[in-house]
Amino acid sequence: MILYFSGTGNSYWLAQLLAEATDDGVLNIAGCLKQKTLPDELTCAERVGVVFPIHAWYAPRVVADFLSRLHLPHCRYRYAVCTCGDDVGKGMNRLAKHFPLDAAWSVQMPNTYIPMFSLDADEVARQKINEARLTIKSIADGVLHESKVWKVQEGSAAWLKTYVVNPLFVRLIIHTRGFHVDTGCISCGICRDVCPMGNIRMSEGGPVWEERCIHCMACVHACPRKVIQYGRSTSRKGRYRLADYL
Ligand SMILES: Cc1cc2nc3c(=O)[nH]c(=O)nc-3n(C[C@H](O)[C@H](O)[C@H](O)COP(=O)(O)O)c2cc1C
Repeated sequence: MILYFSGTGNSYWLAQLLAEATDDGVLNIAGCLKQKTLPDELTCAERVGVVFPIHAWYAPRVVADFLSRLHLPHCRYRYAVCTCGDDVGKGMNRLAKHFPLDAAWSVQMPNTYIPMFSLDADEVARQKINEARLTIKSIADGVLHESKVWKVQEGSAAWLKTYVVNPLFVRLIIHTRGFHVDTGCISCGICRDVCPMGNIRMSEGGPVWEERCIHCMACVHACPRKVIQYGRSTSRKGRYRLADYL
C-alpha cells in the first residue's frame, strides 16, 4: 500500500508510477482524513510506503501528524519517498522519529513554492521530471527487494533548516492572510476542488480561505485565470502544471 499526499501533483504522479512498478495500491492521506477511517487494506498491509512533498525541509504537518498516529501491526517494511525542489534537510530523519522507516528516498521535481522562489526554467523542470522517471524505477526495485536504503539529498545546513527554520516557517509564514484574488475570477471552484485540505469555500465573488491551509499552492497553480495570488510576488511569476511536461 502506498499512501500519498500532494498539493500540485508531483507526489501523486510519483506515487502512481511507484504503485504500477510495485503492483501496489495508492491511498490519498487527504481522503483518509476526510473519511476519518482507515481501510483494512492499509491496517493489514505488510509493506507500506508514503510519498509526499517536502515543505520547508520537513513533511507537511498534516502528513507528519497522520503518520505519527498510524498503527500498522502487520507491516514488516516501511519506506518514504519525498519530492523536493532541491533538498530535504534532515526531514526524513525527523519523520522517522515518529514513523520508523526501513528506507527513505528523495526525488527532485519542479519547485512549486512561488511566494519565495521562482519556478524552475522549462528545461530544468523537464530534466527533473525525466530523471524522476528513472529514479522511481530504482526505488521500485529497492521496495520490491525490501532494501534498507537511505538515499536522501540533505543539502547544506540540513539540521538547522529542519529543526530551526521549519518550526519558524510553520509558526510565522503559514497563514492565509496573504491570499488574494485579482479581478477576472469566474468563481469556477477549481481552487476549492484541488485544495487537499478542503480549506477553500466559494463565496460571492470568489474563494475564501479558512484556517487549515498548509501553503501547498495547489489553488494558486490550478487557477485557470491565474488570478489567485499570494503576497506581492506571485503576480510576476508563472504557474506550474505537471501535465504540461508529461
Ligand atoms: C510550502 C512549500 C515549501 C517547500 N519547501 C521546500 C524545501 O524545503 N525544499 C525543497 O527542496 N523543496 C521545497 N518545496 C518544493 C516542493 O517540495 C516540490 O515542488 C514538490 O515536488 C511539490 O510536490 P506536490 O506537487 O506533490 O505538492 C516546497 C514547496 C512548498 C509548496
